[in-house]
Amino acid sequence: MRKGLFALAAVSLLATGSIAACGDDSGSDSGSTGGDSAAAGKVGIILPDTKSSQRWGTDDPKFLKAAFDAAGVPVEIQNAQGDKTQFQTIADGMISSGVKVLMIVNLDSGTGKAVLEKAKKAGIATIDYDRLTLSGGADYYVSFDNVAVGKLQGEGLVKCLEEKKYTKPVVAELNGSPTDNNATLFAQGYDGVLDPKYSDGTFTKGPNQDVPDWDNAQAGTIFEQMLTSNKNIKGVLAANDGLGNAAIAVLKKNKLNGQVPVTGQDATVQGLQNILAGDQCMTVYKAIKKEADAAAELAVALAKQQKPTTATGTTKDPESGADVPSVLLEPQAITKENVKDVIADGFVTKDAVCTADFAKACTDAGIS
Ligand code: BGC
Repeated sequence: MRKGLFALAAVSLLATGSIAACGDDSGSDSGSTGGDSAAAGKVGIILPDTKSSQRWGTDDPKFLKAAFDAAGVPVEIQNAQGDKTQFQTIADGMISSGVKVLMIVNLDSGTGKAVLEKAKKAGIATIDYDRLTLSGGADYYVSFDNVAVGKLQGEGLVKCLEEKKYTKPVVAELNGSPTDNNATLFAQGYDGVLDPKYSDGTFTKGPNQDVPDWDNAQAGTIFEQMLTSNKNIKGVLAANDGLGNAAIAVLKKNKLNGQVPVTGQDATVQGLQNILAGDQCMTVYKAIKKEADAAAELAVALAKQQKPTTATGTTKDPESGADVPSVLLEPQAITKENVKDVIADGFVTKDAVCTADFAKACTDAGIS
């Protein structure tokens, strides 16, 4: 029996040996004190753009870099600036430079999948960061529970509209990019809350549109048209702070800001200020540091050719049916009452949020 097991282990060691660089076992667990000293390969990370949300240009690169620096693992972080060709060019460069792990936030599943497949062919481990690449076959996925994000948005809007005491308020929906699987999940979450309200007549279903590429400028144009054709809009489910701010700008022009609750996501400085000003109902705080740390933890193990042990579950790819080992974190709803939590968590600073125009609102909200 023992002998049999031994033989099996030897065969599998040989097998991993024969595919050299892409074996996923360290092969050195003979009582050593852990693999921290193993030489790590480089990790390549491609972020999507710098316009659809503040996070990609500021927060994610900062927290990701800090996590890899702390682990002493080399990392290259690039941003595709919303350009799918550029995304692929960056990936080609990283693959040929010999990265051991490639982590991506796709611009759409098609180009994401092409990149992941090339990486796999080159024996590179892959991680979908924040957005699942449909049929992409990434080895790991790290994100938030995105249906829960949408649910918090839906519940937040319901609460704000109840406080306004409108009868059968018309609700408009500004969804995220139709090519982002997260946008689908957010909508699943908020429509799960709003649809029953439409059907029982508490709310009236208003215009509902996707915003291509989460483009904030387009969101403004779309919402302007919505409001022109439906002056009675009383609530806006906007899928993130950028789209929410675009709607708020249009509401301001029409002197309707503050009367029409608007939702958001990402706890951006602008979103938090809009909340403090009373123009935005809520946002969703996703602790990007935790997301970056979780992704880095997986990537560091992979870069050291060790098998990661930190995935906490799996996510079913709705297109391929594959179960992708995942880490999914919990989002938090933020209203005026707990803007201070986001500051206390170190995600944004008091100085950034509480500028002169918001000094009083900050004091009123208990931000000291
Ligand atoms: C992310 C959000 C972000 C949006 C636009 C989504 O995939 O989860 O945090 O606001 O993309 O960049």
